[in-house]
Amino acid sequence: MNGEISLKAAIGQKKSHYQTQNRYKNIESRFDGTKIGGERLPLARTPLLATPSPRGSAPKTPKKLTFIELFSGIGAFYQAITNIVPNAKCVFAADINKDCAKVYKLNYGIESLCDLTKIETNSIPDHDFCFFSPPCQAFSKGGKRLGFEETRGTLIFEVFRILKSKIERGKPPKYILMENVRNLVSHDKGNTIRVILKGLHELGYRTPELPLILSPHQFGIPQLRERAFLPGIYDPENVHIPLNFDMGRLLSKNDNNIFSIIDEKDFDKTLQIRKEDIRTIDAWNEFYHAIDLKVIGFPVWADYFHSDKDISHFPNWKKDFIHKNEELYKRNKDFIDNWAEKWKVFTEFTPTQRKFEWQCGTNIKDISEALIQFRPSGMRVKVPTVAPALVAMVQTPVLGKLKRKLSLKECLRLQSFPDDFNFGEQSLHECYKQLGNSICVTVVQEVTKKLLEKEI
Ligand SMILES: C[S@@+](CC[C@H](N)C(=O)[O-])C[C@H]1O[C@@H](n2cnc3c(N)ncnc32)[C@H](O)[C@@H]1O
Repeated sequence: MNGEISLKAAIGQKKSHYQTQNRYKNIESRFDGTKIGGERLPLARTPLLATPSPRGSAPKTPKKLTFIELFSGIGAFYQAITNIVPNAKCVFAADINKDCAKVYKLNYGIESLCDLTKIETNSIPDHDFCFFSPPCQAFSKGGKRLGFEETRGTLIFEVFRILKSKIERGKPPKYILMENVRNLVSHDKGNTIRVILKGLHELGYRTPELPLILSPHQFGIPQLRERAFLPGIYDPENVHIPLNFDMGRLLSKNDNNIFSIIDEKDFDKTLQIRKEDIRTIDAWNEFYHAIDLKVIGFPVWADYFHSDKDISHFPNWKKDFIHKNEELYKRNKDFIDNWAEKWKVFTEFTPTQRKFEWQCGTNIKDISEALIQFRPSGMRVKVPTVAPALVAMVQTPVLGKLKRKLSLKECLRLQSFPDDFNFGEQSLHECYKQLGNSICVTVVQEVTKKLLEKEI
């Protein structure tokens, strides 16, 4: 499978209710149909490798290389390139955030604190490789998606300014690599990425037709985090020929297991979940074991087991879910009535705790084997293949087996940072935030290796 996607596919369509409803069907069939040899999920301790080629340095990897890292955060690019080329030298890094800059200095000994809009291009040393990951709020689904209309969106032009000045001085960096949110590709019906690609081509960089959309789980790192990666190589004569960028065989979610990054001994009180969350897990686990369905293809809403609420104005997909909840209740009435009374579901559970989603098909038999997310839409139980993207860590996934959240060390592993990465003296919240804003090092490494192998 190639990481590239077509512009049409990337722009995508709005999800219909039909699709929303069918998501459940697809999830079931996917998990049921992809059980490996009918067996349960593999419990790999070492992340699986996506491609048969050996990791480490690529055959044509240079022995020496200079690089700059723009919007450097905590240095995912630094980690990646120095893993490939141990002698690679960072000659300039820039980030406006002073906490990130402190961490950068602590780990790499480089002063990165600066505002790129204010930097004189001639103060940036010549270099072979320019890495950049401009802030993505302006393009991400989470933000208002103003794109270039917002100052943060225009920061990409600071990169163009730096590249242009190097080219004019006859010192173009040979390689470039940009990382951004997946949505960059579909933003403004594809116009945003077209502007970026046009800008890079005008400067003389050859790139793939579209960014590669890649996620750590495709390389055996159990995190689902699709991001856009745009590699480029300075080749002004051939900018019109897209760079072929085949990433080789990529893994699927089901090839992963979250326990490959879990350290079961890692425990401290701050990771513990609340008593009421444990109660919610235990109650729904008992429910799951007793009812007559093992593959629940719809969200369970206790409030609709039997209700006289008017649902006539609800959309059909929602009416259908409610109907399925009523049927479930009728078939399991005796158990459910006792269960609800025992756990005080209708008196002590919050409306959110009264909702439960089983997204595991028959891959697991007990919630203790699952990855759990407490979401506004209820408690979601998933096969422990991949963690959701680390973002602001608002809905930190919970390990059913350990009844705790992921530790900072485990989150470092989800981004392929070393266990001993030094965050210095700052709050845990800040550490998670910086890590969530960063990039999975393994993905950068794999793309960078492919780029360094390119002959022009
Ligand atoms: C998506 S994050 C990059 C994360 C980074 N690649 C890493 O590995 O941690 C974007 C970064 O751009 C920085 N930034 C925003 N405006 C900036 C500016 N004007 N000059 C320099 N850095 C800026 C933010 O502080 C943020 O850390």
